[in-house]
Amino acid sequence: MKKFSLCLFLSAIAIVCGAKEINVFTPNTSLVLSVKEGSPVELLYYGDRLDNTAQLSAAQFQGEPAYPCFGYGSAFFNASALSVTHSDGDLATNLLYVADSYSCKDGVHDWLVHTRDSKHKFEVDLCYRSYDNCDVLEMWTVIRNGEKKPVVLEKYASAALPVRQGDVWVSHEHGKWAAEACLVEEPLNAGHFEVSDIAGTKNAFLNRPNILLSLDGKPSENSGRTIGAVLCWSGNFKMSIDTEGYMHHHLVCGINETGSRYTLKKGESFTTPALALVYSNEGKGGVSRNYHRWARHNGKIHDGLGLRKILLNSWEGVYFNVSQESMEKMMDGVRDLGAELFVMDDGWFGRKYKRNNDSYALGDWYTDTDKLPQGVPALEQAAAQRGLKWGIWIEPEMTNTLSELYEQHPDWVVANPGREPICGRGGTQLTLDMSNPAVQDFVFRVVDNIMKETPDTYYIKWDCNMEIINTGSQYLSADRQSHFYVDYQLGLIKTLERIRAKYPELVIQCCASGGGRVNYGLMPYFDEFWVSDNTDAEQRLFIQWGTSMFFPTGAMAQHVSASPNHQTGRELPLKFRFDVAMSGRLGMEMKPSDLSADEFEFARKAFSTYKDIRPIVQQGDLYRMISPYDNTGYASQVLVSEDKKQAVFFAYKIRQYVNQNKPRFRFDGLDPDACYRLTELNAAGAPEGWEGQIFSGKFLMNTGLELKLPGVYSSCVIKAEKVD
Ligand code: GLA
Repeated sequence: MKKFSLCLFLSAIAIVCGAKEINVFTPNTSLVLSVKEGSPVELLYYGDRLDNTAQLSAAQFQGEPAYPCFGYGSAFFNASALSVTHSDGDLATNLLYVADSYSCKDGVHDWLVHTRDSKHKFEVDLCYRSYDNCDVLEMWTVIRNGEKKPVVLEKYASAALPVRQGDVWVSHEHGKWAAEACLVEEPLNAGHFEVSDIAGTKNAFLNRPNILLSLDGKPSENSGRTIGAVLCWSGNFKMSIDTEGYMHHHLVCGINETGSRYTLKKGESFTTPALALVYSNEGKGGVSRNYHRWARHNGKIHDGLGLRKILLNSWEGVYFNVSQESMEKMMDGVRDLGAELFVMDDGWFGRKYKRNNDSYALGDWYTDTDKLPQGVPALEQAAAQRGLKWGIWIEPEMTNTLSELYEQHPDWVVANPGREPICGRGGTQLTLDMSNPAVQDFVFRVVDNIMKETPDTYYIKWDCNMEIINTGSQYLSADRQSHFYVDYQLGLIKTLERIRAKYPELVIQCCASGGGRVNYGLMPYFDEFWVSDNTDAEQRLFIQWGTSMFFPTGAMAQHVSASPNHQTGRELPLKFRFDVAMSGRLGMEMKPSDLSADEFEFARKAFSTYKDIRPIVQQGDLYRMISPYDNTGYASQVLVSEDKKQAVFFAYKIRQYVNQNKPRFRFDGLDPDACYRLTELNAAGAPEGWEGQIFSGKFLMNTGLELKLPGVYSSCVIKAEKVD
């Protein structure tokens, strides 16, 4: 990446007709604003980096508002980002430029453009942030009510972006339980396009707050101008694109305003969540790699540069049948396999009500002494005696009607005032109201008490298995009910900040019935996420492929599970299951004692191999090559260390046809002029001809290798190491 010594010069550019252009830059991209006192701020350009005024003036968008507002002479009916009912009932907002500032510290650049309504004392700061280590640009607003009486924010999106029309395609992810992040790609036509969510807590199950716009036709992995847009928010969201007229698509992204009118009293302000934009000339892959680097290097995933341990999670091994004996038996097995961490999943708690199934005891975080007579500390010690770190499952934002907590605090649950709450999982589950400070304190104490009782706890799996299906708060006053969706998220984040302040080193997994909460609103507090409850290696290829569009492999928890698989019933070879799981954070989700002697030995070696490649897999740059979505029956990808000295290549075969076309398998992302020695990992058959041989990066990327990949569900993992 280039270094910037001319930041100030570059940030404030030309003055044309009294207007000043502001170059909001990243190492390789620019977003250009035009500002003039007493005029709305305009967005002129977003694309390749521009550093001179001639290019800037030639690149104009022709007067698109940077933050379109509803109601005053605007043609942007659907595409307004801000809509306000002012204190006198006026529905119009007309934001005019007042001043701007720029600062740079430790490779982080901040721009602030201050605007004020032409009639009301109502102000909005347009905020922009970029980093020297990636091409991600964050945009958000701070909305301030200086009026004498309250104003109501009817819509308060984070940002808007005009995108020039052409053959523009949109890629988005759609899913459901056990089938998350399915990639959907479609051309953008005239009219209204929207991906949105209103689930309240699990905002990444159905639609995810991330999209890609491919500007040069059908999306391609490694070529074509591509824009990424990610909303860093864990609650309801809306990303809409309106195509009216012939010039631009209008992208608007932010909190979903449905049921969420937000009142600001005099002097109060609201900060919208950041929209993280990427522009790349290297297709979807270029956008992904930027998000991955941004997340790893800038705290967008907690401890983004830390290496994650290999773990065994007890869920699919024993489900709710937790006992001292069953846990210790699994620990013995996983120790012998060479794993590093043991996690006890659901089923360990309950006093009056026992957690023997999903209808009971959420909120009663007392050890079930029928199952674990010696308590959790004995298990923590048992793990330590085996050289394993200890981890435990909780679902702290939830309760069941069949729990002591609910008996004591029925007023703590999310419920519409005066209505019986409707229950979720197990017929009795309810969500606790995170807008209530007493609940925030309770949730903090769930973690704090665990850490007090078992101070060596290394890992917590934080689950969330219920959406908001009762849209109301028993805590908020009648005139604040429409704040509930937003205040839930703010309460959750406040609690996570408190936990992180006290336990910065605790590893916390974000889980929501699988990948229901994979979003950049929460990931700054979580080290990783559970990609899906579906552990079938074939379907995981698709789920992991989609998830990797925006999230780095080091944060993706990928576990080898039993065969036949518990979700799909499919039988898959252990090597295939390992080769799929090893492309992210490797773990296991089964009883080691269910492995045959040969399988056990294979798994032991694979764990050891993974330790060697872990830095490349968890911290490398991802190049996706053959997409499983293209239905060729193959899939391939490679992870390349940032210094390009090492790479790990993965190829899979998931269909078998007679006379099936077979590609040569090309690498990507290597240094073309360097030489690499190849070694197959997890090898099962006779060595391939290229085993131990040296090839140039150019050869591997342009010509590629022949791989045998015999039969369906065969796979190949190759380590490439640079030789001097
Ligand atoms: C959710 C999680 C699972 C498991 C169960 C326990 O479904 O996604 O991994 O923890 O809860 O009840």
